[in-house]
Amino acid sequence: MIPYGRQSIDEEDIQAVVEVLRSDWLTTGPKVDEFERAFADLVGAKEAVAVCNGTAALHGAIYALGIQSGDEVIVPPITFVASANCVVFQGGVPVFADVDPDTLLLDPVQAESKITPRTKAIIAVDYTGQPCDYEKLQALAHQHGLALVADACHSLGGEYKGRPVGSLADLNVFSFHPVKHITTGEGGMITTNDYTLARRVRMFRNHGITTDHRQREELGSWFYEMVDLGYNYRITDFQCALGLSQLKKLPGWVTRRQEIARHYDKAFASLAEIEPLDVGKNLTHAYHLYVVRLNLEKLQGERTEIFAALRAAGIGVNVHYIPVHLHPFYRQHFATKPGDCPIAESAYERLLTLPLHPKMSSQDIESVINAVLDALSSFLKG
Ligand SMILES: Cc1ncc(COP(=O)(O)O)c(C=O)c1O
Repeated sequence: MIPYGRQSIDEEDIQAVVEVLRSDWLTTGPKVDEFERAFADLVGAKEAVAVCNGTAALHGAIYALGIQSGDEVIVPPITFVASANCVVFQGGVPVFADVDPDTLLLDPVQAESKITPRTKAIIAVDYTGQPCDYEKLQALAHQHGLALVADACHSLGGEYKGRPVGSLADLNVFSFHPVKHITTGEGGMITTNDYTLARRVRMFRNHGITTDHRQREELGSWFYEMVDLGYNYRITDFQCALGLSQLKKLPGWVTRRQEIARHYDKAFASLAEIEPLDVGKNLTHAYHLYVVRLNLEKLQGERTEIFAALRAAGIGVNVHYIPVHLHPFYRQHFATKPGDCPIAESAYERLLTLPLHPKMSSQDIESVINAVLDALSSFLKG
């Protein structure tokens, strides 16, 4: 099976981890600082705070903004559930605003239509690796006094109008899960140019305590105070060593992802039964995912059958995502329902994610393309 995504780990990565395992600091040590500095520099942000996963990073962002009970945060429905759950963690209400039909990214016009006196922030999700329209979203946020969070878990290495992802919103969130651009096993990062927000996230990842163990050791002090409710969202030093080693390979991996996407684009360009998502101008798509829309009017059978045929052919296709507002939890607790976001809902029925990761060989790419062409021709309406 050619998986839809997978990590690339080499001997240099393994050695970097082993070195830390032999050192004095396994967690909250110098490698955390080093990884944060390298990451901040890479994305052009003043501050980066590393945490144990992307969900913790989203939670930290929502905490840092002071979102609390009853506050509303605008979120697109085509995303992983964590993009909305982070609002619920702090007692807030995620309000789903529909997506652009061509890119499936949060539509700034739809977002504006959901703003109420209780709205505090917008979470933009760079779905598949394509940066959202940050110029329009920043203007909207500014006009209404809202914070803008970028869920950039898909778009590390991307750019919007010449500016790197990671410096486009007030707080920018990343995940280092193995299918993402770089991995630390589990891991996440928040970047910001706001020192106060960064300080709040640092405290939040360490139980709401103002200093960490290493700082107290350096000061020769045992005293600490917990000033707010936080969590243990820390990341280990050996994970950060892996992150640092992986970061060096990011540019090459993004280029390879883009190359694979070009192969797919070319292979499917003349087919009416399948349509890749549109890509906007003046941006660099980081291609975490390659998502196509099936033209079900031209095909017999449902997406499920085409999915099963491709899986049977050894192609690890997937579906990203079930619109978040349709999950039972949201229907039960927030009274969301089908019809709330019609563009996302109708797109969802047709979505299919094809394998895309830097380790794919030319043979793998050919196999995916041939299997898709075979499946489409066998499901073509007569
Ligand atoms: C868009 C998006 N947001 C948030 C997350 C959560 O990241 P993690 O799995 O590291 O908690 C993911 C990861 O799957 C994601 O794809």
